[in-house]
Amino acid sequence: MFAVSAARIDPEQPLSGLELGERPEPSVPDGWTTVQVRAASLNHHDLWTLRGVGITAERLPMILGCDAAGIDADGNEVVVHAVIGDPEAGGGDETMDPKRSLLSEVHPGTFAERVAVPRRNLVPKPAALTFAEAACLPTAWLTAYRMLFTRSGLRPGDTVLVQGAGGGVATALIVLARAGGLRVWATSRDEAKRARALELGAHAVFESGGRLPERVDVVMETVGAVTWAHSLRSLRPGGRIVVSGATSGPNPPAELSRVYFQQLSVVGSTMGTRDELARLIRLCETDGVRPLVDSTFDLRDAGSAFERLATGDVFGKLVLTV
Ligand SMILES: NC(=O)c1ccc[n+]([C@@H]2O[C@H](COP(=O)([O-])OP(=O)(O)OC[C@H]3O[C@@H](n4cnc5c(N)ncnc54)[C@H](OP(=O)(O)O)[C@@H]3O)[C@@H](O)[C@H]2O)c1
Repeated sequence: MFAVSAARIDPEQPLSGLELGERPEPSVPDGWTTVQVRAASLNHHDLWTLRGVGITAERLPMILGCDAAGIDADGNEVVVHAVIGDPEAGGGDETMDPKRSLLSEVHPGTFAERVAVPRRNLVPKPAALTFAEAACLPTAWLTAYRMLFTRSGLRPGDTVLVQGAGGGVATALIVLARAGGLRVWATSRDEAKRARALELGAHAVFESGGRLPERVDVVMETVGAVTWAHSLRSLRPGGRIVVSGATSGPNPPAELSRVYFQQLSVVGSTMGTRDELARLIRLCETDGVRPLVDSTFDLRDAGSAFERLATGDVFGKLVLTV
């Protein structure tokens, strides 16, 4: 079958390790099944894999891709939950299973004509969502959902700041925070992206690092090193940063004295459970919320999509169709 794989690791030139071509059909262990992929969305995770983050060279070549929507073996339209983990081992939450992985880390990913997944990872796709929209949900949108509704402690009427408005997770945060009754502020390096963030539902937008009119209850962080100091300074005393990514680097100064004097909380968040994915899908179905697709590419033109992702010139999600 045709697939898009990481064939080599190159931290400096990640796209040089991208390989498009024929790969063996996925093997299907007991309790797993095969999905005919119709759409799969790109995530920064795919670039991290090509850079050698979260994977070792022995596992290569590895089919990339965490997210998919497609048709299961019985002909049903499904969304694929990307977390391979055991809820029992995680105290009822598979994202807390110490051995959990995402598709494309240990098991072949979704940038292929077919992908094998545990049966429990299939969630029905509502007809109201296109395959391209549904393929945005399992990683970026699910991560945003858990950050906002499980990890943040936010209540309707609170103010949330979303750093780096253009990203896949960030655009999801803006839309979902609006749906959740929050006052939504966002930053971006780019004026056009700030304008788009307003259209998407942000109540106010600011230049990256810009001074805010008042401090916020919670900051949503996926940018990392370049926005961290601003995130700490933007919080009211007792406020919280929810962090799920560090695109610009993972090691900014911790500024511990600010953390304890201001009594701030720093909370990590990763992906979401199958149950959270089902609730996110229901929210889309009942509230009219739709993932923002920047553009779609044929699976065989995945190289162009990866180039877009690597430049950061994206607003919303890049989707591959099969
Ligand atoms: N923990 C998890 O489960 C999880 C899940 C999904 C994603 N993540 C992580 O979250 C991060 C975002 O993921 P994504 O898929 O949303 O990525 P993305 O779509 O590539 O988003 C990148 C965004 O970061 C912003 N940014 C600001 N300053 C930047 C800088 N100096 N360099 C690069 N980008 C900068 C940009 O926003 P502006 O141009 O608007 O400023 C850009 O649009 C990634 O690091 C990813 O690995 C983690």
